[in-house]
Amino acid sequence: MAIQRPKGTQDLLPGTVEQWQYLEETMRCVCREYGYDEIRTPMFEATELFQRGVGQTTDIVKKEMYTFLDKGDRSMTLRPELTASVCRAYVENKLYGQPQPIKLFYIGPMFRYERPQSGRFRQFHQFGVEVLGADQAVVDAEVISLVWDLYKRLGLTKLEVHVNSVGCPVCRPKHRVQLQEFLTTRRDGLCKDCLDRFDRNPLRILDCKNPACQAATIGAPTTRDTLCEDCSTHFEKVLAFLEAAGVVCRVNPRLVRGLDYYTKTAFEVMVEEIGAQSAICGGGRYDGLVEEIGGPPTPGFGFAMGMERILAALQVQHKLPEEKPRVFAMLIALGEKAQIEGFSLMSALRTQSIPVSMDLLNRSLKAQLKAADRQGARYALILGEQELEEKVLLIRDLTLGEQNQVPLSKAVEEIKKMYQRGVNA
Ligand code: HAM
Repeated sequence: MAIQRPKGTQDLLPGTVEQWQYLEETMRCVCREYGYDEIRTPMFEATELFQRGVGQTTDIVKKEMYTFLDKGDRSMTLRPELTASVCRAYVENKLYGQPQPIKLFYIGPMFRYERPQSGRFRQFHQFGVEVLGADQAVVDAEVISLVWDLYKRLGLTKLEVHVNSVGCPVCRPKHRVQLQEFLTTRRDGLCKDCLDRFDRNPLRILDCKNPACQAATIGAPTTRDTLCEDCSTHFEKVLAFLEAAGVVCRVNPRLVRGLDYYTKTAFEVMVEEIGAQSAICGGGRYDGLVEEIGGPPTPGFGFAMGMERILAALQVQHKLPEEKPRVFAMLIALGEKAQIEGFSLMSALRTQSIPVSMDLLNRSLKAQLKAADRQGARYALILGEQELEEKVLLIRDLTLGEQNQVPLSKAVEEIKKMYQRGVNA
């Protein structure tokens, strides 16, 4: 049996890769405009980083990590997310010693052992942003605005931005107790996972998608009811900044993120059209994380978005750009001598950065013209025995069906002019 790719992974083939490049370029462009620098960290880290960073009670750490022992018997984990890694890099490279805040972005693959389904993969890709070293509400709003601007630039519509405040170590324990009291008499209605969460992480019950759990939590106390003054003022300011920036969002008191490090603001963006896995972005503030992994007390705020899900949304909404032709001209050389002469012409054109391609299979004129068409070439540059004898090149405009001859010695110059006219058109 032929070997197949692992479940929940994808081969990105030509035709699709261009869509990814478009998305990545747009993301990089927005980050540049907002003054964010790129960071690249390893694909795997010490397992302890995610256990301490993401949290022992989370689904990611409990069930979804690709963990292995390396040959030196050290426990390593393929990164399931990047916030913990970025914080580790911030501490390890003493970025706290540089002018704050540090504004970073990343694009790359993450790994989670989840049940694959539409929009959910075991290797998926995130674009994310992290701001370290600033606790002001304006930071939260700037980062959410960046997300909003990116979606506007991509032309995405019908998205919902949900925001909430999940409190801090001062006010959260109070909410936890109130929530447990409320749920005590409703425990029988909870799913198996939520029964498990009841003692460990009852807040997550508010976020459970199981209809029975949703029914059991109707009227439950939300984090907002118990926010301390600091968290409450912070949240009001975030909402005011978001309004000033024109970001349309909805306060959702039931929004609880699935990772343990969040404090104060949490947010998610949803596009219902892409199905059950509708969350295209999630993030929030994490003021205790850097300290948790051994660094100095440092506030943080960030998000990550699933690139596969954004591409799915762009596809559904017909917002992906049309495929661009790959080559400007296709060189068609017939016969061995013409091929050598043509190869030299192609090298000269490539030196001038003109996208040109040549048949590598020695096919007939008809087959080569067909290939030129398939590649979206504007011109066919034909060099047969007769042309070679007369020292000319036949240039055929494949769109208009016209053709003319130019002396071989002038061919590069002529084609360069045509190419520049095309680029500037
Ligand atoms: P997260 O909510 O676990 O947060 O993931 C963020 C986004 O990654 C999700 O909204 C979704 O679009 C995408 N995603 C997650 N899992 C999968 C999967 N199995 N297949 C496809 N897409 C997926 C985080 O990862 C946090 N680190 C975000 C953050 C950054 N918070 C603060 N800074």
